[in-house]
Amino acid sequence: MASPVTETEAVRVRVAGKVNLALRSGPRRPDGYHSLATVFQAVSVFDEVEATWAKPGQITVSVVGEQADLVPSGESNLAVKAARLLAATAGAGQPLGAELLVRKAIPVTGGMAGGSADAAGALLACAVLWDLDVTPDELRELGAQLGADVPFCLAGGTALGTGRGDQLAPVLSRGTYHWVLAFNEAELSTPAVFAKFDELGLATEPLTVPSALLNALVRGDVQALGRTLVNDMEPAALALRPELRQVLDAGRELGAIAAMVSGSGPTVAFLAPNEPAAVDLSVKLSGAGLCRAVKRVSGPVPGARLVV
Ligand code: C5P
Repeated sequence: MASPVTETEAVRVRVAGKVNLALRSGPRRPDGYHSLATVFQAVSVFDEVEATWAKPGQITVSVVGEQADLVPSGESNLAVKAARLLAATAGAGQPLGAELLVRKAIPVTGGMAGGSADAAGALLACAVLWDLDVTPDELRELGAQLGADVPFCLAGGTALGTGRGDQLAPVLSRGTYHWVLAFNEAELSTPAVFAKFDELGLATEPLTVPSALLNALVRGDVQALGRTLVNDMEPAALALRPELRQVLDAGRELGAIAAMVSGSGPTVAFLAPNEPAAVDLSVKLSGAGLCRAVKRVSGPVPGARLVV
């Protein structure tokens, strides 16, 4: 048995961002959500959530990192909501308190589940801090109440998401994939991209992910994966941010196997054939000066994990 965390100790959790290798969406449902068929891959850009004891009932957050000023610091912060939900349910309404510190590296409103990652991190960090008797399944259920991507952020790896994207099944994936991410200046709100998706009538039928994509993952075939990546949200994101087309084209010209908008954007993800090619692409893309920052990542990586 691990000993309880003392009042001065911090619990640190690392959580990865994601790209959607496939993102197929049906029409808007009566509850406002869209039914999805998506394949998530967790990639090596990480937020860190640190939790320490605070006065009973007091849950606060501070955020540090390049885009910290874009993240709400009060009750609307997803990490705070996650801690409050955990205290109210698994904590049986005990007046538990936590001071949260989020170190952000996942782009904010970037289409990589940054907010959901912080919610996932806060759930795990507070469960450990408060020594709660909560199972991974219960954490996943609480996560789904906070956001459709939170269950995947807890799980990591590669997974098929259905329902709102919150019903997960594991996907067999061999090898490591090398990506170059272009972080863009503009933010894109996920609801706005889904609204544009509706307006443009982009819903897909039937809602399936390409079997060739799943086969490519089983075989570890990066070229085949590149041919089968699909994102139904991309035309909607491009309609709202036409300048992203230039970024997509630049990456393709500079040697990417495939280029796509990540989730609802505006982050653009480029698949590279191998690690040296990813290094080369990231240097050239940085030099092109088309985006706020360029980051080389790999996946799949695990989901929310304690840092000891
Ligand atoms: O679940 P989450 O709060 O992260 O979703 C943010 C927004 O994205 C939702 O309010 C909704 O507008 C849109 N969304 C959707 N269908 C999904 C997931 C998200 O329409 N399956």
